[in-house]
Amino acid sequence: MTQERAPLWEALIKHTAVAGAQFHIPGHRSGQAIPDEFLQFAGTGIFKLDLTEIPGLDDLHQPQEAIADAMALAAQAYGAEKSFFLINGTSCGLIALILACCGPGDKIIVPRNAHRSVLSGLVLSGAVPIYYQPAVIEDFCCFVGPDYLEIEKLLNENINSKAVLSVNPTYYGVAGNLTQLAGICRRADVPLVVDEAHGTHLRFHTDLPPDALSSGADAVVQSTHKTGGSLTQSSLLHLQGPRIDADRVAEALRMVQSTSPSYPLLVSLDLARRQLALRGRELLEKTLQLARWCRDKLSRIQGVRVLGPEHLGAAGAQYLDPTRLTISLLPRGLTGHRTAELLHRKYRVFVEMADAAGVVAVLSLGTTQEDCRLLVEAVQEIAASAAGQPLQLPQTLQLPQPKVAISPREAWQSPGRDVLLESSLHCICGETVAVYPPGIPAICPGEAITQPVLDYLLEVRQRGCHVQGPRDASLQKIRVLC
Ligand SMILES: Cc1ncc(COP(=O)(O)O)c(C=O)c1O
Repeated sequence: MTQERAPLWEALIKHTAVAGAQFHIPGHRSGQAIPDEFLQFAGTGIFKLDLTEIPGLDDLHQPQEAIADAMALAAQAYGAEKSFFLINGTSCGLIALILACCGPGDKIIVPRNAHRSVLSGLVLSGAVPIYYQPAVIEDFCCFVGPDYLEIEKLLNENINSKAVLSVNPTYYGVAGNLTQLAGICRRADVPLVVDEAHGTHLRFHTDLPPDALSSGADAVVQSTHKTGGSLTQSSLLHLQGPRIDADRVAEALRMVQSTSPSYPLLVSLDLARRQLALRGRELLEKTLQLARWCRDKLSRIQGVRVLGPEHLGAAGAQYLDPTRLTISLLPRGLTGHRTAELLHRKYRVFVEMADAAGVVAVLSLGTTQEDCRLLVEAVQEIAASAAGQPLQLPQTLQLPQPKVAISPREAWQSPGRDVLLESSLHCICGETVAVYPPGIPAICPGEAITQPVLDYLLEVRQRGCHVQGPRDASLQKIRVLC
């Protein structure tokens, strides 16, 4: 089958072309029972596609026809041996991969800044994390990708690890050297699982960082909805090589995905794959041109910093996705949060993310020249009218070494109580405490409150740093396990 085909789309269109009686779920019956205002706004088309596992439309959990063909085409487009359509985002793909690779007590090497679904995967599987700290680019206080030398060291110290998990590229578009990392994992015969939530598009243009499958990863999960042109919640999971059992992944996905998968989501994956395969390069070329235009204009504005190739160089920061614009107005006295607020309140410019240092604008296949003009003009005006003194980010404190005492699963299942921070030494923590900057957890559930951790938290409290995660953000008390 060629990439011109879109098997699930074709099956749905064929089905809708022939009228028939519908006695199946969903009960809105191709839009008949959809409330009027929704119908008037959305039209009828999308509701006609909202079908279920009836003859001719296959079954996501036992695919043999149109969905199997559509997934095979996705595998072909991405160079995978097997691909799965996901309807609960990259989150469910990461959970399923952890479940497929690890059982209770098994070790898995994970970055300390992993997405929260990784913690869910650890709780559900009973696996024990071996953490590595991602480096940070100081001016923007943003994490970088994996440092393969550090992971090699951890693999040598933990020879029976069941998997290595990496986030690459990061939210900021920064990527490490996955080829080196994949080589290390291959030699250790440990599967490399890459959270490529932000990298669906990488494979389709040579000016973008190398994608994880081409670099040799065993399993990759991508949020196609983020930059690939499909609907929100739709993602792809790809496998290659002998180290991960595809049947086990399928079983795990059956556990964590709905038994009523949305056909609009599934078909959006089929069509997004076709669009990327046939026109990805051309569409991304346009996106890249817009990104270059924005980057050029923004970096000429006085007092505006844009994350660029000049900030790369650390082991986990070898590449930058130019379609991500990380913009900081700290030199004009504005935090990222304030910048984002001004952008949307005064200019109706909505960015993807804001933190203390800056904002992240995501340029994608759908971005227009007009969007870019509005962004650049808004930043110009905000920078020109900002009267504040340059802001320095609070100096990052050296994070203490985590000491995992019990697995995240055991921590989840244990009752907790709140104690004064001062009296928590040697207790096992029952919550996550992350301090911004850099927003990486200082402690997670199941970890021991050692003297260095306690000293760090006391220092954080005394300095009045911004804390995320604990029930008591003032850090007078901390949740510990009984
Ligand atoms: C690095 C990373 N991994 C995983 C996810 C989860 O992806 P999804 O929203 O597709 O479930 C996100 C979401 O923002 C993310 O940023």
